[in-house]
Parts: sequence; structure tokens; C-alpha cells
Amino acid sequence: MKKLVVYYSYEGNTKYYADLLANHLQADVLELKPVNEKSSKGFTKFVWGGYQAVMKKKPELVAYNFRPADYEMLVFATPVWAGTFAPPLRTFFEREDINGKKVAFLYTHQGGPGKVKEQLEEVLSDNHLLGSMDILTNKGSQEENRKRLLSWAQAL
Ligand SMILES: Cc1cc2nc3c(=O)[nH]c(=O)nc-3n(C[C@H](O)[C@H](O)[C@H](O)COP(=O)(O)O)c2cc1C
Repeated sequence: MKKLVVYYSYEGNTKYYADLLANHLQADVLELKPVNEKSSKGFTKFVWGGYQAVMKKKPELVAYNFRPADYEMLVFATPVWAGTFAPPLRTFFEREDINGKKVAFLYTHQGGPGKVKEQLEEVLSDNHLLGSMDILTNKGSQEENRKRLLSWAQAL
């Protein structure tokens, strides 16, 4: 079965787990990269990022060559931004017609996942959802998270 992991990561946490998962599933990997993304730190990043997420912005993405239609299974990974999924995923979902696929998703956060699970379930509702999981990136060890993720992936 052809598998694709699609992810966005601003600071590398989601990237770490998405790459791990892709490696484990022997999946292709598509990292969504916004064109001209700001590189801000500290409080500023929460302001512009939170604004984009709340306003449901859809940033232009750097071109990619993957076609979801070529895959049977798609796994999405995103950080939680202001209680929802990150804007580049929104662009992707608008652009691509994802239906009839086996899907799963992973989201990383710091204890405030908001409604991201319900929202992704809704966005992907025309598909067969295999499962979802969250990873706290401010608590627990990366090693524990890695083990949890790989055991979740076994069931996909
Ligand atoms: C703009 C912005 C908004 C965020 N909003 C939330 C939030 O609502 N709830 C939460 O638990 N964490 C929030 N976070 C923390 C990230 O979800 C968390 O650190 C995540 O693991 C970062 O993933 P990344 O390193 O792949 O970018 C936010 C981070 C940023 C930059």
C-alpha cells in the first residue's frame, strides 16, 4: 500500500515525529512549507501564528510534486496553533480533494489541543479514519513519545 505522510512543522517537534512515523511506515514524506514564512521567536511568533490560525488563513505553499491521488493511505501531522491545526494544512485541504482514503493524523501541542481532533475528523470525514494521536511536546521525554508513536503506528 502506498503511504504518504503530510506534515507542517514550525519549530521541528512535529517534523521529528512525522519523519519517525514515515520511516516506520515506509511512507513518502511531504513537508508543507509556506512561501516567505516569517521566522519569529518568543511572543511575536504566537501573535502572528495565532492570528493566522484563528483567521483560518491559507498561506501560499512552496510547490510540491506529490499527488494524494497516487496514495492509498495518508497520515497528517501538525502542531496545534490556537486550538486548531496549522494554516499550511488548511491550504493543503482546500487545494487537494482528500476522499476515499485510509487516513490518520497526529498533532503535537503543549497541553491545549482545543478542538483540533474534532476539526481534523470533520475535514477528513469523507475518508476511512484509522486513528489519531496527540503528543505533548512540553512534558514527558522524547523517548517515551517515540515509543508511544511507534506502538500507535503498528495498529495503522
Ligand atoms: C503560533 C503558535 C500557537 C500555538 N498554540 C498552541 C495551542 O493553542 N495549544 C497548545 O497546546 N500549544 C500551542 N502551541 C505550541 C505548539 O503546538 C507546540 O509547541 C508544538 O509541538 C510545536 O510544533 P512544531 O515544533 O512542529 O512547530 C502554539 C505554538 C505556536 C507557534
